[in-house]
Amino acid sequence: MSPAIGQPIRRIEGRAKVLGKARYAAEYPIRNLAHAVPVLSTVPRGRISAIDTAAAVASPGVLTVLTHLNAPRLPYRQPKEVPATNPKVGDPLRPLRDDVIRFDRQYVAVVVADTLEHAEAAAALVKVTYEPLTGVTSFDRALPNAQLPREGGRTGPYRRGTPDAAFAAAPVKVDQRYVVPTEHHNPMEPHATVAVWNGSQLTLYDKSQWVQNIQQHAALAFGIPYGNVRVLSPFMGGGFGSALRAWPHIDVAAMAARVVKRPVKLSLSREAMYGSVGFRPLTRMRVRLGATPDGRLTSVMHEAWAQTSTYEEFTENTLGATRLMYNVPNLATTYRIVPMNVSTPTYMRGPGEVTGMFALETAMDELAVALKMDPVQLRILNEPPKDLSVNLPWSLRTYVDALRDGAKRFDWARRTPEPGSMRDGGLLVGLGVAGSTYPGNRNPASARVRMDPDGTVTVQSAGTDIGPGTYTSMAQVAADAVGVDVSRVRVELGDSRLPYSNAQGGSALFASLSPAVRQAGLELARALVMAAVSDARSPLRGLNPDTLISAGDRVGVKADPTKFVTHAELLKSLRRPLEAHATSAPSGKPTHSIHSFGAHFVELTVDPDVYEIRIRRIVSSFGVGAVINPRTAHSQAVGGIIGGVGMGLLEETRSDPRRGRIMNANFSEYLIPVHADIPVFEAEYLKEFDPIIGPLGGKGVGELPIVGVAAAISNAVYHATGKRIRDLPITIDKLL
Ligand code: MOS
Repeated sequence: MSPAIGQPIRRIEGRAKVLGKARYAAEYPIRNLAHAVPVLSTVPRGRISAIDTAAAVASPGVLTVLTHLNAPRLPYRQPKEVPATNPKVGDPLRPLRDDVIRFDRQYVAVVVADTLEHAEAAAALVKVTYEPLTGVTSFDRALPNAQLPREGGRTGPYRRGTPDAAFAAAPVKVDQRYVVPTEHHNPMEPHATVAVWNGSQLTLYDKSQWVQNIQQHAALAFGIPYGNVRVLSPFMGGGFGSALRAWPHIDVAAMAARVVKRPVKLSLSREAMYGSVGFRPLTRMRVRLGATPDGRLTSVMHEAWAQTSTYEEFTENTLGATRLMYNVPNLATTYRIVPMNVSTPTYMRGPGEVTGMFALETAMDELAVALKMDPVQLRILNEPPKDLSVNLPWSLRTYVDALRDGAKRFDWARRTPEPGSMRDGGLLVGLGVAGSTYPGNRNPASARVRMDPDGTVTVQSAGTDIGPGTYTSMAQVAADAVGVDVSRVRVELGDSRLPYSNAQGGSALFASLSPAVRQAGLELARALVMAAVSDARSPLRGLNPDTLISAGDRVGVKADPTKFVTHAELLKSLRRPLEAHATSAPSGKPTHSIHSFGAHFVELTVDPDVYEIRIRRIVSSFGVGAVINPRTAHSQAVGGIIGGVGMGLLEETRSDPRRGRIMNANFSEYLIPVHADIPVFEAEYLKEFDPIIGPLGGKGVGELPIVGVAAAISNAVYHATGKRIRDLPITIDKLL
């Protein structure tokens, strides 16, 4: 039997998904369901001076209208430890708690009615009068309030060597400013929660990347035991980080269900998705690079100023990649947050790294131009021997391999360096490169693996599959560990009653959960062998267990394939399922720096008359350790790169700086790539194995592919036109 790991197996839940049989949060057929619709604020800062709900209350089908005046006060007990999805510093928003408006489209009331249509109609009748206050709605005007995050840690200032003096003395310099705008996640499936109370038991069908985080949040919010809350999120239509933490609609749905004594569904409109489920924070950066004339970096200084809300300090690892990417003795990073009247930002695919690497990798291209040096060569020349930021060896660093592999497949050698020097008919052709990196994160997780009398193997964990293929990869890991064909493995995920798992986030879940699934699978295989030598009816009774193996559908003698007992016969005789449980956690103090690396090569054309940019081809190479499923890993690469194309050319949440209103809270004005925008992708993973990340040798692949894409596009646009665009997205107006 050939191993399942490494095979391009189709998603085991794919058929259910395309047939509409996979249930998403808003789709559970609950009897007697009521519908909640939030009313959103129209000012970014102020107080509710009056709220008139009379017309809404009298509207057909309305069950209740909740506002800060009549909503139940929830106890909101404090967690022992702030979950990693939430800011460490701040006062989380409690919906309908007070009359204070902190951001545009904050919930000011929630209408609950017997149908969605009735609730929407009534929501339009709620009259809110605001006492407006001057909000912090312009990033420029907010900048003087920039501050270091109080949490310190990895977002605190960092310095090695003497970066200022080294920069001052550097013969070749780059000193530029870069901007990544506010972006919203925009998953296809909107956030939704269905809340069902049964006495003091609460069930939440919720779109979540971490069900046990939502379980803890809801239990603390309502002051009930954890065991009284069950959260289910078996399928998700995209998350990208927006469903990592508990947002206000969850509290509101559960609160409303308790008030109306019926199950309540709250499914956010696309517009409401711009109000309170997070976003990538607008981040302005300054990068200074100093180098010798032969291209060796002598100084790097990278500063960032990033949006946060007025009530929580959201931070992300924006400058972490800069500290480890290249071999530079003198380096400083300073990260500051800028409170504004916006809702709290959150992690969005490639969080932090994607922002910082846009600036660093564009600046590296600018340095290559200043040096008259090939940008691939410049990067290879500055390859560091170890992670200088933590002074640890790499678990596996194959950045140079990725650059060389990508350059070869892309035929980078045909590039003539002079901007505007490559043409195709009347079009300018640009070729650009940029690097990528993302940490190989690992968190605690556990799993149960069971074999039933019919020989079916079931893997269970509370970890969720938000789309990358976790169902399938865990089936592969379990199949090889137990020694059965993957077609016999079922996987159950996304239910808080199942064994504990940390979030599907930060590209961490594969490396976190797979060791637990593997361990439980190996223990189950061992239990099958022990049953074979001890069961009264087994033909292998009394044999030395070390001479046996569980493989295929049987336990057999390693040296003699004719002697065996099938799993089905064993379990029939045992008359009970066999199961094993295992927990996995990263071991204490890190001995290595664990990161994935990659490189993107972009070919695009620019029309010299109207500056239309068309991307033709993106060749990417990634080193993530072992790839468990090439098919689903390729999907992750393509999805991430498409996100990068969106970042590079289209995505930007725009606010009116005077009134603080988001102006494009919809799919017609917030642009994301469509099929016609998407070029040919040639994404490949290097054949490698990272022994440090875990026994499967593979790191998660969710975030790495988006990191660096926007820089590679910007660098290609420069190569085509000679115009350097340092603020995303690269729109036609910026090229004029
Ligand atoms: Mo990812 S931004 O942790 O879903």
